[in-house]
Amino acid sequence: MNIMNQKGEHALHAVIVPTPAQGHVNALMNLAQLLAIRGVFVTFVNTEWIHERVVEASKKGKSLVSKDNLELEQQGWRIRFLSIPDGLPPNHGRTSNGAELMVSLQKLGPALEDLLSSAQGKSPSFPPITFIVTDAFMSCTEQVATNMSVPRVIFWPLCAAASVSQCYANFLVSEGFIPVNVSEAKNPEKLIICLPGNIPPLKPTDLLSFYRAQDPSDILFKAFLYESQKQSKGDYILVNTFEELEGKDAVTALSLNGSPALAIGPLFLSNFLEGRDSCSSLWEEEECCLTWLDMQQPGSVIYVSFGSIAVKSEQQLEQVALGLEGSGQPFLWVLRLDIAEGQAAILPEGFEERTKKRALFVRWAPQAKVLAHASVGLFLTHSGWNSTLESMSMGVPVVGFPYFGDQFLNCRFAKEVWKIGLDFEDVDLDDQKVVMKEEVEGVLRRMMSTPEGKKMRDNVLRLKESAAKAVLPGGSSFLNLNTFVKDMTMSKG
Ligand code: UDX
Repeated sequence: MNIMNQKGEHALHAVIVPTPAQGHVNALMNLAQLLAIRGVFVTFVNTEWIHERVVEASKKGKSLVSKDNLELEQQGWRIRFLSIPDGLPPNHGRTSNGAELMVSLQKLGPALEDLLSSAQGKSPSFPPITFIVTDAFMSCTEQVATNMSVPRVIFWPLCAAASVSQCYANFLVSEGFIPVNVSEAKNPEKLIICLPGNIPPLKPTDLLSFYRAQDPSDILFKAFLYESQKQSKGDYILVNTFEELEGKDAVTALSLNGSPALAIGPLFLSNFLEGRDSCSSLWEEEECCLTWLDMQQPGSVIYVSFGSIAVKSEQQLEQVALGLEGSGQPFLWVLRLDIAEGQAAILPEGFEERTKKRALFVRWAPQAKVLAHASVGLFLTHSGWNSTLESMSMGVPVVGFPYFGDQFLNCRFAKEVWKIGLDFEDVDLDDQKVVMKEEVEGVLRRMMSTPEGKKMRDNVLRLKESAAKAVLPGGSSFLNLNTFVKDMTMSKG
């Protein structure tokens, strides 16, 4: 059956395949909505583990994921949700053992192809699949796209600089920068200036932390190098950044075979500004914190969240707590049940009682709304890329406390390149050392009440403006997304 869009052209149908982790799913859910409002039909494929958690977390029916596909079709939505087993047993600790998850995902190709083939005829209102948008870390989609004879669009969920460093990881092995020698990395002899794209010189510790393994037979080390080989072979490249932040060259450098490469972010922002909720949280969002924020002074609250995966030792959590208390500011702290290594989060004795007049603890927050709230003046963050983009888009400066992956690069760039925040000198590269309360308090005070902090606030407000410009009609990311849809239409013939 040939389905036409409103202009009478044959409609596009995208399959979107995220890596099964919160930040990745969020970014691609936002892309799904932006494509759907441009007339593209979308089949969104989560792993079963992710799908069940999103449905459970959004029981109140807010999320599109919690509606069944028929209901979505009846409401005129062009998005449907499918899910696929990730190959691991149900009780596997997926986030604590990411290596096994990644290896399992690399073998998902045949199951994904079966799922898509059997879904083709099931939804009569969906046209044939025309392209696959794959998270850059889902190499299993390569064979699927080849077998289905559709373009494979690689989506980078990291900033362009981190994406370039990962895309060229095998080259960095040949240049001797990988494996990263952690003992020399703090004061490196050589910066990495051999990468294309006019990205700022990198320190070895800016590379994905998985390359710090001194044993090249380490499973994650090998898995990321394997992904890197596949990441340079897309038919189209999309990046969740904006040209005004990182430049066009860094994005273009991600195309090694001349395929088009475009910046289309911050993806959540146009949905947010236009009031579309693409909630895909893995935990239920505690909206009550917004009412609490309403009662605080403008710009006074420190928002604390370490994202969806990072864990901290009990001792480190205690020092962060005491530093927050010492800062004298009100704070809103997201304490996931699994934030403390190996146990439920434990705060210092009497801490909650002492701070109850100016602190609120939640398990999971509606983060973009929190950052957009006028009471929030600072974000103490693990520097995940989505959190970093959300913070700059809302004009909130950051204090970075990275944990793994690309977070070290995001944190350093926030401090040294974009100049929108600070970090802790004492963050140990092999994560053994504890940042003490005096340092936490000192950095928070510098950000909240010194001219240095004010300067970073001014810088982030400028970025907020350019991010909004990029995603609104006529802006660089908005136009790039239109170009992408047009190119996909042409490639369909
Ligand atoms: C992971 C990696 O850690 C990150 O470095 C990489 O860039 C993307 O994948 P994650 O740890 O989940 O992501 O961090 P981040 O990228 O910041 O994404 C977290 C997402 O969860 C954000 O979209 C944020 O808005 C959301 N969030 C976080 C909430 O909605 N509520 C919360 O309480 C905390």
